[in-house]
Amino acid sequence: MAKASNNFVCQSCGAVSGKWAGRCNSCGEWNSIVEEASKNSGIAGGPEKSHTSGILVTLVSLDAQTDDVPRLTTDNAEFDRVTGGGLVPGSAILVGGEPGIGKSTLLLQVAALIADKGHRALYFSGEEATAQVRLRAQRLKVTGSPVELGAETNISNILSTLEKGETPALVIVDSIQTLWSDRLEAAPGTVSQVRACSQLLVRYAKRSGAALFIVGHVTKDGQIAGPKVVEHMVDTVLYFQGDSGHQFRILRAVKNRFGATDEIGVFEMKNEGLVEVANPSEMFLGDRADDSPGSAVFAGIEGTRPVLVEIQALVAASSLATPRRASVGCDANRLAMIIAVLSARCGMRFGAHDVYLNVAGGLKITEPAADLAIAAALISSLASIALPADRVFFGEISLSGAVRNVGHMGARLKEAHKLGFTSATTPMPSDGEVPDKQILVENLPHLSALTANILGSEGEKNHEFDQKRNKNS
Ligand code: TYD
Ligand code: MG
Repeated sequence: MAKASNNFVCQSCGAVSGKWAGRCNSCGEWNSIVEEASKNSGIAGGPEKSHTSGILVTLVSLDAQTDDVPRLTTDNAEFDRVTGGGLVPGSAILVGGEPGIGKSTLLLQVAALIADKGHRALYFSGEEATAQVRLRAQRLKVTGSPVELGAETNISNILSTLEKGETPALVIVDSIQTLWSDRLEAAPGTVSQVRACSQLLVRYAKRSGAALFIVGHVTKDGQIAGPKVVEHMVDTVLYFQGDSGHQFRILRAVKNRFGATDEIGVFEMKNEGLVEVANPSEMFLGDRADDSPGSAVFAGIEGTRPVLVEIQALVAASSLATPRRASVGCDANRLAMIIAVLSARCGMRFGAHDVYLNVAGGLKITEPAADLAIAAALISSLASIALPADRVFFGEISLSGAVRNVGHMGARLKEAHKLGFTSATTPMPSDGEVPDKQILVENLPHLSALTANILGSEGEKNHEFDQKRNKNS
């Protein structure tokens, strides 16, 4: 057996090196390298055996008959949607999210739903004492559900408990950062511990056929704390997002071996736990002021479902030498790009203005299709002209100012019609695409057409609007 030696492990990417450095050579992260004492524990498979002593693997063909495994559904439509139609037996799911966002609440509710259906569900809490979990269960009114609860952080004890008795259908471990294996000397929460414990748990899930949930904390910049390797090990990675200021919570699948990614489930945090929100668009548009400048409705797609959301912009005269650009719910680089395109291609001047952008309801938008709605909100705020309240916007903007087509045009328009919108500003449809006849569609080839539409004759008189540049572009 190798002699115990100290390794220097990057807490961000898990790279191991022989000496300490201020910056990880592998991922470039600063101050992420921590010394971890490691006994050669063999936890990750042990020293390699000679190649001739292994058992032969049975090789099969691709077209072998596989039975469709029944998925474990919770009857919570939002949750089942995100998992791709229910939990697959033997799959491992990592749930990440900031502290206090509601991970433990969500999973306790899921455990109760599964247990109520007659399946065995185990919940291991490493963070809270059983009394605390019971208190939460009282609040959630699920004390009657036959969920089996344990407060434990030692992975060996958890695994021994799991091996005993009937194989559970669902195992929840809250959280991976609290677990530790006595075979490693590193502290709980370090990369080696997180990696080793996850590996043991995932291996158990695969072998036993239990669906496994691992809760993981995220760091300030939104990554699951500890190594990325945990994300690679599991079948599904879900992020639970939201704003502590809002009661809305969004469960988003960022990786799913058994379903679509980018699928979202929307919940509302109430006094008695998380309640599913069946129609997110209605919620995101809930308290919209119809006639205020700077508000545009974006018809977006989240996963497989269209979601309408209000984008708010405030363009205000700035007293700063370098005006502020701030955005909540949308990438700041994207905002900077749209401002640059508006000024270079459409003659809109933002140089002496602070620009604030906000996506209502706490949703984070990653789709480039939001460009046109963001641009409309910016123009509307700069010119102090309210956009028509019954209009939606979508389309990607290229650096030349051209409005590019985006996918799912039909679905976006249909959702807009369903929610009472009567017109839409969109890119030119691609060949063969039949736009919805129920809604008035205005197809824009170029961003300058949007500027001209919004500003109209009034805008041209009142605001710095460089017509000459607009015509040239
Ligand atoms: P929690 O599930 O403990 O978060 P996490 O496990 O992600 O750290 O949720 C904590 C917050 O949720 C807490 O601030 C209180 C709130 N909450 C409710 O509003 N209603 C409820 O029914 C419950 C159980 C919690
Ligand atoms: Mg918790």
